[in-house]
Amino acid sequence: MTDNNNLPVFSVLPKHVGFIMDGNGRWAKNKGLPRSEGHKAGAKTFRKIGEYAADLGIEVVTFYAFSTENWKRPEAEVNAIMELFGDYLNEVIDRIRENEEKGIRLKFIGDRKGISPELLNLMDYTEMLTKNKSRITLNIAINYGGRHEIASAVKVIAEKTEKGEISPEDIDENMISEYLYTKGQPDPDLIIRPSGEFRTSNFLTWQGAYSELWFSDVLWPDFTEENFNEALRAYENRNRRFGGV
Ligand code: IPE
Ligand code: IPE
Ligand code: MG
Repeated sequence: MTDNNNLPVFSVLPKHVGFIMDGNGRWAKNKGLPRSEGHKAGAKTFRKIGEYAADLGIEVVTFYAFSTENWKRPEAEVNAIMELFGDYLNEVIDRIRENEEKGIRLKFIGDRKGISPELLNLMDYTEMLTKNKSRITLNIAINYGGRHEIASAVKVIAEKTEKGEISPEDIDENMISEYLYTKGQPDPDLIIRPSGEFRTSNFLTWQGAYSELWFSDVLWPDFTEENFNEALRAYENRNRRFGGV
């Protein structure tokens, strides 16, 4: 079934979907291209799927773009990824100037330490420019690690406890959620990992405790709206029990 805009209709739609954008390197290798070309193609897929998620009416999407572990890669590859990220942010700024923005609110999750000052400026600027957009919130996880995020939250809570602002009895799951980058957002209902790997690689570790997982062999640069529809159809049929009956 499709709606007036020819978009598929789902009986239940996840509020928040996470994407682990994996397989860029293998995609490039298969084509005899440098890995950076895979990241370039992956960045195109990111734009396409982000806009499609907005069209479908999903409230929040999170794209895992660079992990705290990805610094282990060769410097040239890291630089290529950061450059593509900067290109995207500049494109967002141009679109807003030309009044052609798509109603996307951008938010960056991850540790700002380690990101270049130029990129940090672009991140702050695009977050500020898009803060009143309401079609969809698009989180970009950059220098993100789930364990690092939890450890950072614990550190802040410990400091506040030491100062007497918090008492240990007050520390509960809700409080920890409040100190995560995703504060105020719903937990991901569905996490999608393409590229044939069956792991979450430190993505939304706390928030994903009850997420539905969907895996695919497709490499991220080849991932299509139709693949996303497949994941959403699978999600429609999941029986989420959260420990109940
Ligand atoms: C995902 O693609 C992009 C990042 C992790 C930044 P990969 O670069 O991990 O691609 P594969 O896994 O090597 O194919
Ligand atoms: C996960 O992909 C991180 C991102 C997509 C940003 P990786 O390629 O880094 O994950 P592993 O190393 O296969 O677990
Ligand atoms: Mg990979």
